[in-house]
Amino acid sequence: MSAPTSTILWCRDASELSRIAADHVAALLARKPEAVFALPTGQTPLGLYAELVARAAAKRLSVAQARFFNLDDYLGLSADHPLSYARFLREQFLMPAGVAEEHIRLLKGDAVEIKAECRDYEAAIAAAGGLDLAILGLGTNGHIGFNEPGSDWSAHTHVVSLSQETRTTHVKQTRGQFAIPEYGITVGIATIVAAREILLLVVGGGKARALAAFRSGIPDPKWPVTALLTHPNLTVLAEAELQSEREAT
Ligand code: GLP
Repeated sequence: MSAPTSTILWCRDASELSRIAADHVAALLARKPEAVFALPTGQTPLGLYAELVARAAAKRLSVAQARFFNLDDYLGLSADHPLSYARFLREQFLMPAGVAEEHIRLLKGDAVEIKAECRDYEAAIAAAGGLDLAILGLGTNGHIGFNEPGSDWSAHTHVVSLSQETRTTHVKQTRGQFAIPEYGITVGIATIVAAREILLLVVGGGKARALAAFRSGIPDPKWPVTALLTHPNLTVLAEAELQSEREAT
C-alpha cells in the first residue's frame, strides 16, 4: 500500500495550520450545523480553538447546534483537576465558544464504574448519530487519543496503561508540577476510524518519526496513527518543517 500523501497538506507554520483547520470545521458546520465532533487536547489544537472562538465571537461561525465529545483523559482525575482534559477543553474552547452544556459529553476520568462509563460514552456517540469529524493530535510515539503503540485497533472506548514515553512527555509539559497518572481513558481506534471524517493535526518537531511511519504507508500496530491510512475521508495538516524531517529517527 502506498502512503496517501495527497491527503497531507503542508502548512507554513502552526498559525496557518490552525486557520486551515478552522476553515475545515467551518465548512462542516455550514453543511451540517448539528455536526458531531470528537476533540483533542494538547498544544497542537490551541491555535484552532483560539481561531474558532474568535470566529464565533465575530458571528462568523456558530457552534450552537453542534455536539462535542472528547477523545481522551487521564484516569482518576475529576473534571476540575488542573490536568484534566475535560477542564482543558472547557476552558480553551467549549466555554469561550458558547457551547451549551446539553451539547457537551466529555469522558469522566473519575467515574466509579469505569467500564460502564466506557459503554455509556460509546452509547452517547451512537445516540448522537456517530462522529462526523474526529480532530486528532499526534503523540510523539504515534498515539492518537491515548491509543498507545500496540493498541488493539478493534477497541472502542477503554482504559489504557500510558506508555513511559507519553508520561515523560507530559511531565515535561507540566514542568513536573503534577504526578502524571499511570492510566488513561480513550475512545478506541475503532471509534475514531468510524468517524465520517478525520482531521489529523501534526505540529512540533518531536512528531517527525510518527509522521514518517504514517507516510511509509504501511499499517503497523506499533504506530497507532497508521490505523488511519485506510480511512476514506482523512485530511492531514502538518507543519512544513516536518516534511524534510520525515526520515529523522
Ligand atoms: C496527548 C493526548 C493526545 C494528543 C497528544 C499530542 O498525549 N492524549 O490526544 O493528541 O498528546 O499532544 P500535543 O499536541 O501537545 O503535542
